[in-house]
Amino acid sequence: MNTPLAHAVEEAGVTALAPVLSVSGLAKSYDGRVILQSLTFALSERQSTALIGANGSGKSTLLKCLVRLTEPTAGRIDMLGQDVRALGPNELRRFRAQVGIVWQRHNLVPRISALSNVVHGVQARMSGPRSWFQALAPATVRAEAMSCLERVGLADRAMTRVDSLSGGQQQRVAIARMLMQRPAFILADEPDASLDPQTGEEVMALLLGLVRQDGLSLLMISHRLEHTLRFSDRILGLTQGRITLDQPTALANVTDLRRFFEHPETP
Ligand SMILES: Nc1ncnc2c1ncn2[C@@H]1O[C@H](COP(=O)(O)OP(=O)(O)OP(=O)(O)O)[C@@H](O)[C@H]1O
Ligand SMILES: [Mg+2]
Repeated sequence: MNTPLAHAVEEAGVTALAPVLSVSGLAKSYDGRVILQSLTFALSERQSTALIGANGSGKSTLLKCLVRLTEPTAGRIDMLGQDVRALGPNELRRFRAQVGIVWQRHNLVPRISALSNVVHGVQARMSGPRSWFQALAPATVRAEAMSCLERVGLADRAMTRVDSLSGGQQQRVAIARMLMQRPAFILADEPDASLDPQTGEEVMALLLGLVRQDGLSLLMISHRLEHTLRFSDRILGLTQGRITLDQPTALANVTDLRRFFEHPETP
């Protein structure tokens, strides 16, 4: 690409890759109250995008709309080559299997081992009945679960009950369970919240590693500006359900981001 714009984009560290997510006119209201207002944006594959904004600006609602955990009111979502809003129940299940989600609260089963929790993650990629899961060779599934635990640095805690692991270790088990899905896209809603600074950083580095080393795409929410700056390629900012900031992370700094929160209309 030799156009001045392409050159400027490359300079800014954003390479032009195929869009993995394309959102057009996405709107969401709850009981007539507008939460998301006609959002339009596209994300390139193999990139980490940070979504920032004040409490209540609509970040989590946007993530949920993308996989229809809450139904959008209007607009179009194309993700991983699928017209998401047009999917029927079975297609939606197959689509969701390709999208790994990391929440602040991870919903692990507390009284069983880390390994068993990760093994359960395989069910998310099975779109058929439960019996299909049971038909998988247990040894193969366990071996894959072990390699997912290795990926998050917890192979040595495989047999430990989850409720005796630290918060950071539990979050890593949740990421390992999500990896059992073999996702292509990861949505992470404040994966670093309620973790100490060091552990929060490790979890974010782990997620970015999945982008850099495994070629996954990541859309993540964090309230920690230093994480936004260190672990993303691009920053989208929401203000009352509208995108009011969209810039390559290479061009952003903490002062600008603070200003975005103070004066969200004029970043
Ligand atoms: N199920 C729901 N029913 C009604 N209103 C909702 C529902 N879920 C979210 N909202 C409202 O939508 C708005 C946006 O919420 P959302 O959780 O998306 O914000 P957020 O940007 O993720 O905030 P935070 O930083 O606090 O997590 C809020 O005003 C919230 O009260
Ligand atoms: Mg939220």
